[in-house]
Amino acid sequence: MMRNPTPIPRILLNNVSCMRNAQTVLRDINVSVHDGGALVLTGANGSGKTTFLRMLAGFCAPSAGEILWDGHDITSSSGVYDQYKLLLNWLPLKDAIKEKKTVLHNVRLFEFLEGKQGRSMEAIEFMGLGRLANEEARLLSMGQRKRLQLARLLAIDRPFWLLDEPSVALDAEGVKLLEYIIDAHRKKGGIVIVATHQQIRIEDAMSLRLPERFPRRKTLVDMLR
Ligand SMILES: Nc1ncnc2c1ncn2[C@@H]1O[C@H](COP(=O)(O)OP(=O)(O)O)[C@@H](O)[C@H]1O
Ligand SMILES: [Mg+2]
Repeated sequence: MMRNPTPIPRILLNNVSCMRNAQTVLRDINVSVHDGGALVLTGANGSGKTTFLRMLAGFCAPSAGEILWDGHDITSSSGVYDQYKLLLNWLPLKDAIKEKKTVLHNVRLFEFLEGKQGRSMEAIEFMGLGRLANEEARLLSMGQRKRLQLARLLAIDRPFWLLDEPSVALDAEGVKLLEYIIDAHRKKGGIVIVATHQQIRIEDAMSLRLPERFPRRKTLVDMLR
């Protein structure tokens, strides 16, 4: 009798390490994520959260181990990465906002790159920026810029979100919206990987706390004690 095989995880990190500047930043990481899954990365500044996301985005390669997408190594030369990268939506710390273009343009641009149109305005309204849609982006506050980045996530429909500190500068309502869209994305089968040092409520998320990389030296905080 055939038994149902355990499904291959959508993403699997198999004993992954990553070096930067000749130093090991990430060591022996094993994680698997299935459709609808969420992984929250926490850890001190410099512990490697952004490096982890960059590695999953294919911007830097593991120094050991492998990253498998549907069982295929994303760093292999067989064109796997070309397919994989089309599934990614990367929310970086640097927001790549064009200051002199309107808010709407800044979101639409992402739709155009994707060869789609029609969702930007709805996404902007959902993120509470509707009244600002035709204003130049330079007028936005930090929190509003973050909302614009989140509108980009909604405007294009990619299953695999990599979010680097997405809640920084958001107000309480903004954080609620972020939590809501992460939840909705997962319900559609999307995957979310979030690096954060702030509390973001994500149901049944796996969490990975990256260890501090160096024994702590005395810092200003210790001196103030
Ligand atoms: N482009 C780079 N080249 C060399 N080292 C880097 C680079 N970016 C980050 N690092 C180093 O890698 C370590 C991890 O950084 P990062 O992943 O940005 O940490 P986090 O996001 O957790 O604050 C830090 O020690 C940092 O100095
Ligand atoms: Mg970081």
